[in-house]
Amino acid sequence: MTDKKNLETTKKATGIRKGLTNYGDTGFSLFLRKAFVKGSGLSDNALERPVVGIINTGSAYNPCHGNMPQLIEAVKRGVMLAGGLPMEFPTISIGESFAQPTSMFLRNLMSMDTEEMIRAQPMDSIVLIGGCDKTVPAQLMGAASAGIPTIQLITGSMLTGSHRGERVGACTDCRRYWAKFRAGEIDEQEISDVNNQLVASVGTCSVMGTASTMACIAEALGMTVPGGASPPAVTADRIRAAEQSGAQAVKIAQEHLTIDKIITSESLENAMRVLLAIGGSTNGIVHLAAIAGRVGLEIDMQALDRMGRDTPVLLDLKPSGAHYMEDFHHAGGMATLLRELKPLLNLNTLTVMGRTLGDQLELDGPGFKQDVVRSISNPIYPQGGIAVLSGNLAPGGAVIKQSAANPDLMEHEGRAVVFENMEDMATRIDSDDLDVTPSDILVLKNIGPKGAPGMPEAGYLPIPQKLARAGVKDMVRISDGRMSGTAFGTIVLHVTPESAIGGPLAHVRSGDRIRLSVKNREISLLVSAEELAKRGIDNPIVEPAAARGYRKLFLQTVTQADKGVDFDFLRAEQIHGKTPR
Ligand code: FES
Repeated sequence: MTDKKNLETTKKATGIRKGLTNYGDTGFSLFLRKAFVKGSGLSDNALERPVVGIINTGSAYNPCHGNMPQLIEAVKRGVMLAGGLPMEFPTISIGESFAQPTSMFLRNLMSMDTEEMIRAQPMDSIVLIGGCDKTVPAQLMGAASAGIPTIQLITGSMLTGSHRGERVGACTDCRRYWAKFRAGEIDEQEISDVNNQLVASVGTCSVMGTASTMACIAEALGMTVPGGASPPAVTADRIRAAEQSGAQAVKIAQEHLTIDKIITSESLENAMRVLLAIGGSTNGIVHLAAIAGRVGLEIDMQALDRMGRDTPVLLDLKPSGAHYMEDFHHAGGMATLLRELKPLLNLNTLTVMGRTLGDQLELDGPGFKQDVVRSISNPIYPQGGIAVLSGNLAPGGAVIKQSAANPDLMEHEGRAVVFENMEDMATRIDSDDLDVTPSDILVLKNIGPKGAPGMPEAGYLPIPQKLARAGVKDMVRISDGRMSGTAFGTIVLHVTPESAIGGPLAHVRSGDRIRLSVKNREISLLVSAEELAKRGIDNPIVEPAAARGYRKLFLQTVTQADKGVDFDFLRAEQIHGKTPR
């Protein structure tokens, strides 16, 4: 066979013949590949099957993925029951509380690992297994760029624990108890006791944090098997979802149901609706923007805000409500929510089951009485969980999770108390000398994409200790950083452009007045444009840089929050437009 013919054969190839290693002789490449894979005992019969890659993100540093061995076994079983060949391989895993400086710094690295290992190795479809906050977005970003048939399997939420008769779960209750400890309301013994109860099993955080948000978004996009978002990590339902994911991965390989048919402008719009209706993490919008960018779309933030005005929060989960993920699962999971949202959804979007979302909802049946997903006529919060703000302090926009904010502070004008960076805040926030009152507005600079770097979840500034001890529970807080979805408070995030690249936030000074009006979607610095321009000239910004390595790549190419904090060179070559259209 000539080299040209060899090349054509390789391009059309499937299974183990796909993407042959380049030795200059494709026949030899296949011969060699087969010889090596047979070394693990595989037969010629096995090597003729559709190949399903399974991404193993198990890690001792990631307890949120602690059920990985059981999930992989079940996915493999599903693949083999459907006549495929499962091929498990590892990629980076990111455990939220184990990653320094912040997991977000590594999300794009994980997405590159995911994309390139899917491209590099022979497989007809892929099952991504992720759960902890940054892993699902990283996997969806990477897979969207790689372009093959893909199913997302979620690791599932942890169980809730019990502390002195009270049900607790990570991590809304982690923050609540820590705030009590800081305020002197509970002692060392109690904070130590509750530490044993907050995470009652392996799995992801049990409230509507980023992990649960991304699980719901993945299902809303059509990227999981039906009901794939909600089963807790240690349940039989989760294992069955894994088996079904494996079997379905064989089917979509045979049908060439590629990811670009699933992640579309319409399915992204559904995901935006769901993000609003679940009171989802503000991180969800950053990750959706990054996923959209991989398929050539940008999230229209103003449209998101408009959608928020007619999309109430229906899911009664902490931190916006009272329940936990396992309750959502018992209430029917995403089918219950999507059924309620049906009039607001694009029902013709395709799911990994090869059927439309509308057909899937028909199959899911009429539902049953439950008290976790509210009806549209009786919502938890009358508007979507996230409001988009703008003004001279955030010309490129900012967000607030209004469903988890204090209604008394959402229309507020106050004096700025400014911290230049995280170190400055850590040094001064608990000082008795700090000039601060409950009506002031705390401002933290330099925690944006380039500032920290990696846009850490430091936007949940602690209440200064002297105010906390006096009983102050919430204040308006503003930063260019992010906040965990498990947190609550009147907190303005993702101020764009960030201070580290010279956004107006860089020039705020203590004593300036700031106005927040969620009703008018306004975040304004009450300082004249002339004065701000003068401050910019007096204090020119030097953007952060690094001499080498991943940090250098990160600082040179990372985009702002409205573009998903993705690297510019990883976005689609062409951006076709905005979503929703
Ligand atoms: Fe992994 Fe919360 S720490 S999901």
